[in-house]
Amino acid sequence: MKASSVVFGVALLLAAVSVRAVVSEAELQENTAKGLRLISLEEGVDPVWKTEDDKLALKRARVNFFDVTEVYDPKTPIIVHPDSFAPAVTYPAPSHQSAVKAIIANVSLANIQTYLSGLTAFNNRYYKSQTGVDATNWILKTAGDIAAAYPASQATVTKFTHSWIQSSIIARIPGTMPGGPITILGAHMDSINLNSPTSGRAPGADDDGSGSVNLLEAFRLLLAAGFRPTTPVEFHWYSGEEAGLLGSQAIAKSYKASGTQVKAMMQLDMTAYVKPGTTEVIALMPDYVDAGLNTFLGSLITAYSRLPFVTSPKCGYACSDHASWYNQGYPTCLPFEARYGDDNPVIHTSSDTVSVSGFSWSHTLEYTKIAVAFAYELGI
Ligand SMILES: *[C@@H]1O[C@H](CO)[C@@H](O)[C@H](O)[C@H]1NC(C)=O
Repeated sequence: MKASSVVFGVALLLAAVSVRAVVSEAELQENTAKGLRLISLEEGVDPVWKTEDDKLALKRARVNFFDVTEVYDPKTPIIVHPDSFAPAVTYPAPSHQSAVKAIIANVSLANIQTYLSGLTAFNNRYYKSQTGVDATNWILKTAGDIAAAYPASQATVTKFTHSWIQSSIIARIPGTMPGGPITILGAHMDSINLNSPTSGRAPGADDDGSGSVNLLEAFRLLLAAGFRPTTPVEFHWYSGEEAGLLGSQAIAKSYKASGTQVKAMMQLDMTAYVKPGTTEVIALMPDYVDAGLNTFLGSLITAYSRLPFVTSPKCGYACSDHASWYNQGYPTCLPFEARYGDDNPVIHTSSDTVSVSGFSWSHTLEYTKIAVAFAYELGI
């Protein structure tokens, strides 16, 4: 496994040097000025230029992609870094069960419901709409108020601004060992109505209001418990996921460029739907994740959740923000609401609300518990 991935990595590097068509800096500038976007549709295949309308057509056809226009580097044109670039990290078995169980015993469904009703109240959270900006400011304020309520934590909540109007948000609990590798929990705060992105109603209750509020409540629980990690823990709410993983790519690239170490990254994207007639499970995504981290995640679920975990069918290329971190060589995982294919069928429409048949508060509650356990066990 190890040897073959090294060989694969070398092969990819050689391919990059010898045959791949690199998009030049001049071409990047010229096409970007025309409003074109550079889109990566497949691993190992050169990205292609598309219009904004083409991007929407791809989304409507349920084709996922990275919009790499702002992160593409002609000097390192490989989009997906080979596995062998990932830092060798081993994850110990969960070992703080009494502390973690005491924290998750305080999880508040009422808080989760209040947070989600706040987020879904915006007409949409589209990354280029004013209500999308308002939603980001709402997360900034909500997470900021949590941090302010527990000043001893020294937690900070900041905007990560982008070239488009909606920012991503980063809440950080500093480590007592400040330079230590960061544990990252991510979700995306934007939503989209594929029929009418800018002005259409997109409550995005499940996609990805659910993951976003799991993170808010986990952040609150940890601060309320006086959690002081050894290594930093960060909660990220990404902008522009629905437009080609824009926010997470920008942040992952900047962390990589500054040499920031990441211990593990867990993405929560859709955690509230159980298809009627199916057995309730937590489904671990098998692709664009770290196998060791997935094993650790399974052990966390066994220790701290009432639900069993299963391995999901693959979600494919560029399916959520974890892939942006994977591409930079960081270890990632994605516990999903259901086996891929049994997930919420009404996302990206005005119907993605809490009243859809199959929407489950008790299901999404489990992912808040996993988020607390992930942050605690890795950060302590
Ligand atoms: C749980 O909540 C109670 C009531 O707010 C608080 O006194 C207690 O410290 C909390 N426990 C933990 C571990 O956070």
